Amino acid sequence: MNKGEMLYEGKGKKLFLTDDENLLISEFKDDLTAFNAEKRGNEAGKGALNCKISTQLFHLLEKHSIKTHLVKTLNDTEQLIKRVKIIPIEVVVRNIATGSLAKRLAIKDGTVLPFTLVEFYYKDDALGDPIINDEHCLLLNLVKSESDLEELKRLGREINSIMKSFFAERKLKLVDFKVEFGVDKDGNILLSDEISPDSCRFWDMDTNEKLDKDRFRQGIGDVKVAYEEVLKRILSH
Ligand code: C5P
Repeated sequence: MNKGEMLYEGKGKKLFLTDDENLLISEFKDDLTAFNAEKRGNEAGKGALNCKISTQLFHLLEKHSIKTHLVKTLNDTEQLIKRVKIIPIEVVVRNIATGSLAKRLAIKDGTVLPFTLVEFYYKDDALGDPIINDEHCLLLNLVKSESDLEELKRLGREINSIMKSFFAERKLKLVDFKVEFGVDKDGNILLSDEISPDSCRFWDMDTNEKLDKDRFRQGIGDVKVAYEEVLKRILSH
């Protein structure tokens, strides 16, 4: 598969055209950004770790009948993916209150939520990815219909239940995560983008040590060591 022209560069990945108009190459970058790219960094090897972690998790979800954009891994940092039109909604799923939820609603950090919370954020850097409700999604034509929103919520909850038990077996709490979906040429909604410690929060089951991008956001350090630990635990069974 020939790597063609770069189509798009995001904060964590670059997308390249290929010989096949329905397939793209996704290259995971070592760059780290936080707070809508106000804080920037770079961690050599982070892209390769996220590529491996995301590949493993997408395979896990595929095994549980979640359709994804992943075709195959090409090398340490690149995946061959199906070309989709990204739905500009960040679907955030939460099990434990922390981050923006704890701050916005003054919920004590670490509170276990009585039910799985699904939120929508408008994927728009200029606006700082604001939280939006179902009606905002329809008002902005981000999806075709209410049933698409119900499908995004259903998929978010299903992905959460699969990953929560997978990580619990590996002594990690899945605190929260963000997923993105895209629509392929046949109109199927596919899980897209990535699932990695850049887009999830993982806390050690016994110590609550943070093993995710909060180490970068909060300047705790040892970002790569934490991502390596997540990969090690994923591969540990
Ligand atoms: O910051 P907040 O608490 O809203 O983040 C919730 C979850 O979504 C976290 O796991 C975070 O890593 C992820 N997220 C993301 N990309 C964003 C915003 C949040 O991956 N733009």
